[in-house]
Amino acid sequence: MTNLTQEFQSIFHTTASPQYFFAPGRINLIGEHTDYNGGYVFPASISFGTYALGRKRSDRTFRFYSLNAPESGIVECDLNNLSYQTVHGWANYPKGMIQYIEQEGYPIGFGADILFYGNIPNGAGLSSSASLELVTGVLLEGIFDLKIDRLQLIQIGQKVENKYMGLNSGIMDQFAVGMGKENHAILLNCQTLVYDYAPLELQDYEIVIINTNKQRSLTTSKYNERFQQCQQALADFQKELSIHSLGELSIEQFEKWKHLITDPTNQKRAKHVVYENARTLEALEELRNNDLKAFGQLMNASHLSLQSDYEVTGIELDTIAETAWQQEGVLGARMTGAGFGGCAIAIVHQDAVTAFKKNLKKKYQDNIGYEPTFYTASIADGAKEITEGAIK
Ligand code: GLA
Repeated sequence: MTNLTQEFQSIFHTTASPQYFFAPGRINLIGEHTDYNGGYVFPASISFGTYALGRKRSDRTFRFYSLNAPESGIVECDLNNLSYQTVHGWANYPKGMIQYIEQEGYPIGFGADILFYGNIPNGAGLSSSASLELVTGVLLEGIFDLKIDRLQLIQIGQKVENKYMGLNSGIMDQFAVGMGKENHAILLNCQTLVYDYAPLELQDYEIVIINTNKQRSLTTSKYNERFQQCQQALADFQKELSIHSLGELSIEQFEKWKHLITDPTNQKRAKHVVYENARTLEALEELRNNDLKAFGQLMNASHLSLQSDYEVTGIELDTIAETAWQQEGVLGARMTGAGFGGCAIAIVHQDAVTAFKKNLKKKYQDNIGYEPTFYTASIADGAKEITEGAIK
């Protein structure tokens, strides 16, 4: 943190001390591509995330700098002009947050100097963008002395993603990053936004995060295509059924009425959503019963469904999941997040982690041609202001 303070002071040519904020990234244990379908998700916030150091200015200029993107230099804009600009790249996320927070009626009035530093890889499916949105949100609250209801801040983050950045994502990422709780996962009903924390007691097991290191391309359009396909499937059901989202359907209802979906691809997409939703509720039960084995099997089934029905895995994530399933001491493994590359997670016995990583690394390197990266994360709190003494 001392280093970050020094960076802040040298980049912005000041001797003043900034305030510090942190927002985590997240993993999703199960419940994938269900959030924008009004279904259940089961994410947890992790100890990797984004730090932001900020100080209010006396004029209306915002200056942003990211230690992760030094090539962008200082990105500068005025409070009067916060519109999206391609050339501003990553800085559009904080700009969008400032714009929408003001629009929601919170007076900002002045500019600020803000330094960002993130230790989650960008675009790896661990919610680096929601982390950036929420850390900006809590920073603005902190330095401008605003009191924003946490759920509203989360919804503003989602709006930045949907309206400012153009990705039709659901609310899971912002919710997990904003509401995370140490050693707990969150069961969230994305239609009603009713949620519950579940202790994540993994006994002798740990969660290993595996990054495919695949460069993702066209993610936005493929993601939005899945969104559209689900919308179409819902519209087909609505010809006969009075439902608001695919998340309201039970497996029995789906099987009874699936003929209403005219396009076979859309039918597969909807099938994934309905079955994944049921798996997510079952997974919570298994966790509460301390049946980690059954929990792991549901994770595996989730991956298979994302592979064959939702078609968002790809050879990299499939190689990781399928290799993981064959390893000693692995209870379950699946892709996490949007897919199309990004990260997978595996629940691995502590004694087996070293061999797991070694074997997986070899197999992945042989099949894919480059190495994966491993992270061991703990489950941490959601976005907040931090004091220097609290930094580990
Ligand atoms: C991304 C989106 C989320 C969610 C997941 C898939 O992370 O931001 O809203 O849809 O993909 O479950």
